[in-house]
Amino acid sequence: MSRLVVVSNRLADPRKTAAGGLAVALGDALSVNGGLWFGWSGTIVEDGAPGEGEVHTQQAGNVTLATVDLCKEDHDSYYLGYSNGVLWPVFHYRLDLADFDAGYIGGYRRVNQLMARKLMPMLQPDDIIWVHDYHLIPFAAELRAMGCKNRIGFFLHIPLPPPLILAAIPQHEWLIRSLFAYDVLGFQTQYDVDHFSRYARKEVGAEALNEHEFRAFGRTVHAQAFPIGIDVDEFVALADGKEAREMFDRMAVEYSRRRLLLGVERLDYSKGLPHRLRAFRQLLRQYPENLGSSTLIQIASPSREALDTYSGLRQELESLCGSINGDFGELDWMPVRYIHRNVARKRLPGLYRVASVALVTPLRDGMNLVAKEFIAAQDPEDPGVLVLSRFAGAAEQLEEALLVNPYDTFGTAESIQQALQMPLAERQRRHQQLLARIREQDVHWWCRTYLEALTG
Ligand code: ADP
Ligand code: F6P
Repeated sequence: MSRLVVVSNRLADPRKTAAGGLAVALGDALSVNGGLWFGWSGTIVEDGAPGEGEVHTQQAGNVTLATVDLCKEDHDSYYLGYSNGVLWPVFHYRLDLADFDAGYIGGYRRVNQLMARKLMPMLQPDDIIWVHDYHLIPFAAELRAMGCKNRIGFFLHIPLPPPLILAAIPQHEWLIRSLFAYDVLGFQTQYDVDHFSRYARKEVGAEALNEHEFRAFGRTVHAQAFPIGIDVDEFVALADGKEAREMFDRMAVEYSRRRLLLGVERLDYSKGLPHRLRAFRQLLRQYPENLGSSTLIQIASPSREALDTYSGLRQELESLCGSINGDFGELDWMPVRYIHRNVARKRLPGLYRVASVALVTPLRDGMNLVAKEFIAAQDPEDPGVLVLSRFAGAAEQLEEALLVNPYDTFGTAESIQQALQMPLAERQRRHQQLLARIREQDVHWWCRTYLEALTG
C-alpha cells in the first residue's frame, strides 16, 4: 500500500478533535495507512534569508507532520502578495481588487521551490502526493524538475475563473502550464472544470482526449469535479455534544421572542457581507413586521488583516452595522449583532441550530462548507432554512436551498422573508433532501473518489 503525502499551506494536528472538516478528512485519510503532512509551519522568521527555512517534524500517531518556517520577505510575497493579493481576488472574479505587483511572483516561486526542495529527500518512490490549493500551483512542476516521478494530484479549493479573467494574470500561461505537471486536477464544480477545459484548449492548444483527459506540454492530465463535503456524522455528533447544547439553550432563552438570522464566515470580500447587510436593511424596510422581531447575528472572524482590502472591508462592515442599528434599533432590540471573532467549533452547531435562517450569500465561493454545516446541525423536526448564493460552489448540489443572487438586494430581501415565513412541512421536506445530498457526497466520499482517481 502506498503512503499518502499531503501538501498544503496550512496544517492541522489530526490528533486534535473537531479541527475542521478538511483537517479531519485529511487526517483520516492519512491515518488509515500512516502518512506525511507537509506545509508551512505558521512561523515567520523576521530576519531569515529568502528561500531558506528550517524544517520541523513531529509524530502525531502514525502521521508525520513536517513543516517549514518562512522568512518575512518570503511570507509577504508568497502568502500576502501573490497568493492573496493576486490569485485569491482573480480566482474569485475580482480583477478590481488584484494587486499585480511584479515583485510578488519571485517570492511565490521561491517558496514553492523551497518547499519542494525540503520535501524531495523525504519522499519514497511509491508515495502518492496530494497538493492543496492556490498557494502551491507550481509545486509539482518544481518536484518534477528535481526528478520526482511519483503520482501527484492537485485540488483547487477555490473557483477557477473563465479564461478571459484568468488571462489578466501576467503569468497565466506559466500557471496553467504548471498544472500539467500533475496527474490529476480536482476542482469543486463542473463550472471550474469547464473553465479549465476551455482555457487549456483555446490558450495552450491542449488536446481533449476525452471528457476528463487533456494533453499538452508532453503530459496528460485528468481533470474532474470532486465537490468537497463535510463529515456529516461528526457534525451531527458535535450538535448533540455538551458545548453545542449549552450554546443552543442559552441562545434559545435569549431569543425566545425573536427570529434569528445567522451568518458565519471569515471576514473576506468574497463572502458578500456588505451586500448581505444591505439586503437585511431592505428586509426591515420592506417587511416592517420584522422590526423588533428579527435579529441578524453576523460572525465574521479576522482574516488576512495585513492586506488593505481586508481592513477596508472591516471598516465598511462596521459602518453598515452601525447605521442599520442606528436607523432601526430600539432600546430593547438591536437588528444586527456583529462579532469579529471565531466561535469555538464545538459550540458552532448550537448556534446553527437555534437560527431560523442561515444567510450564506457569497459573491463567489469555491464550495462553502458553512452551508453544509448548517444543514447537518438542524433539528429534522423543526429545521431552519438555508438562503444560499447561486454563486457558491455548493449551489450546484444544494438545489433545495433558497437560491439567491446576492447582488440583487430586493430579490435577496424577498427570499429572506420567504425563508422566515416558510411553513414547517416545506422546511422539513427541503431539509430532508439537503441532508441526503450532503450525506451522499460527504468528506469521506470526496477523499475516497479523489484518491481512486489519483491511484488509477
Ligand atoms: P473558507 O474556506 O473560504 O473560509 P468555508 O465555508 O468553506 O470557507 O469554510 C470555513 C470553515 O471555517 C467552516 O468549517 C466554518 O465552520 C469555519 N468558520 C468560518 N468562520 C468561522 C467563525 N467565525 N468561527 C468559527 N468557525 C468558523
Ligand atoms: O478554502 C480556501 C482557503 O484559502 C484555504 O486554503 C485556507 O486554509 C482557508 O481558506 C483560510 O485562509 P487562510 O489560510 O489564508 O487563513
